[in-house]
Amino acid sequence: MLKVADKTHDESRQGEAFAPFAVDPSSYHKRFYIESYGCAMNFSDSEIVASILQGEGFGATRNFEEADLILLNTCSIREKAEQTVRKRLTEFRKIKKSKPGMLVGVLGCMAERLKAKLLEEEKLVDIVVGPDAYRSLPGLIGEAETGQKTVNVLLSREETYADISPVRLESNGISAFVSIMRGCNNMCSFCVVPFTRGRERSRDAQSIVAEVQELFNQGFREVTLLGQNVDSYHWSPENEGHNGWGKAVTFANLLEMVAQVHPDMRVRFSTSHPKDITEEVLTTMARYENICKYIHLPVQSGSTRVLQLMNRTYTREWYMAKVDQIMRIMPDCALSSDIIAGFCTETEEEHKDTLDIMSYSKYDFSYMFIYSERPGTLAARRYKDDIPEEVKKRRLQEIVDLQGALSLASNERDLGKTFKVLIEGDSKRNQEEWKGRNSQNKVVVFPKEEYAYQPGDYVWVTIHDRTQGTLIGRISKG
Ligand code: 5AD
Ligand code: SF4
Repeated sequence: MLKVADKTHDESRQGEAFAPFAVDPSSYHKRFYIESYGCAMNFSDSEIVASILQGEGFGATRNFEEADLILLNTCSIREKAEQTVRKRLTEFRKIKKSKPGMLVGVLGCMAERLKAKLLEEEKLVDIVVGPDAYRSLPGLIGEAETGQKTVNVLLSREETYADISPVRLESNGISAFVSIMRGCNNMCSFCVVPFTRGRERSRDAQSIVAEVQELFNQGFREVTLLGQNVDSYHWSPENEGHNGWGKAVTFANLLEMVAQVHPDMRVRFSTSHPKDITEEVLTTMARYENICKYIHLPVQSGSTRVLQLMNRTYTREWYMAKVDQIMRIMPDCALSSDIIAGFCTETEEEHKDTLDIMSYSKYDFSYMFIYSERPGTLAARRYKDDIPEEVKKRRLQEIVDLQGALSLASNERDLGKTFKVLIEGDSKRNQEEWKGRNSQNKVVVFPKEEYAYQPGDYVWVTIHDRTQGTLIGRISKG
């Protein structure tokens, strides 16, 4: 499976408009329209924003032309992501001109990075709100309605929105994101996230388990525990014993607690930093059938020197040993990666080291990027962005081509195997076929035949064909 954008920063989803339909629209006196860009965390945050706005009498609409409030939840990870949002703001400018009372708000990482400057640069933006300030949205909207431009980009050391019940936007009713921690302390030199999303903080474990239980009761069968760096999840109850466990909760503990909600509730997580994923996490994954055998383990580069410049804190050999350990504990575990082509000073040989570590790790899929210098990051301050654009592009193409071959080879190894598949819905191409995923996160397509299965059901499927991105099978009768 090939993706040039990653799951946490999936540009293929950029610009989707989300609207909750579970609610009677006539019960709201105003309408908001929201578009989310970038990572899964942003999509999850939009569900929190929707919940806050609903409490203020705002109903969602899919049609921005009938909205009183247009919100863009933005991404700053690469320059291209910011350009996409700016283009979209220009489009909204036209609508705003013909509808003077309508407000436009920018949320998320671009809001945080550019702050009040965004109001000067994009004259028709009324509200700018950073990722930790969504609770202040109702107040800011109130002020903006009186004609003021409003900004709140305060970052917090505590905010986790633990008590806010997300409004599931455009959900398939089967899979949901559950945010477990926010922020990142890692300071990878290329990355703007620590500046836009602030310091790491973990959400109360009890509220996470309660949310997963509630999702199960509503019919959901898969949760993805989300955070910029889930393995550094750590929650200590203020009062010993107050949570019933009486001790601090690590990510391994949390995984176990969530897995115990119900054996039919699949558990996934994203994203892991290779330096932080512990043996205890791996053995917990191995112990529970419903914790999916799939790890997104971004390598970024296969060269120890480049990894050092990136401040990734592991070497090439250390990463390879981690892959070995994962495969020892879970031989059927799928791996995916994030890879950056053409980081500052990267030589041809170091690029080959990246290709080589990809083959070693046998990634099932990867999210692959050209290095994009971000203002204010360590790399922007310390190193020259000195790899010519055409060299970056050629290296990316080599990475993409190799990943294509690795994905195909991985799918070929699955021919003849039988997988437990969670049905998500009709396949895109054919309503006579189901689409689902196996534990390894591979998309599986198969004919419905005469069976009365429904989305949310598990079914055993034997694979007889494959493309680069999909396994094709038949319901197993045995
Ligand atoms: N340029 C290119 N890719 C980047 N990423 C993060 N920052 C940059 C950047 N400045 C990629 C990393 C990260 C993923 C979410 O985005 O691979 O893991
Ligand atoms: Fe960025 Fe590194 Fe944190 Fe990921 S771990 S969000 S790449 S600083």
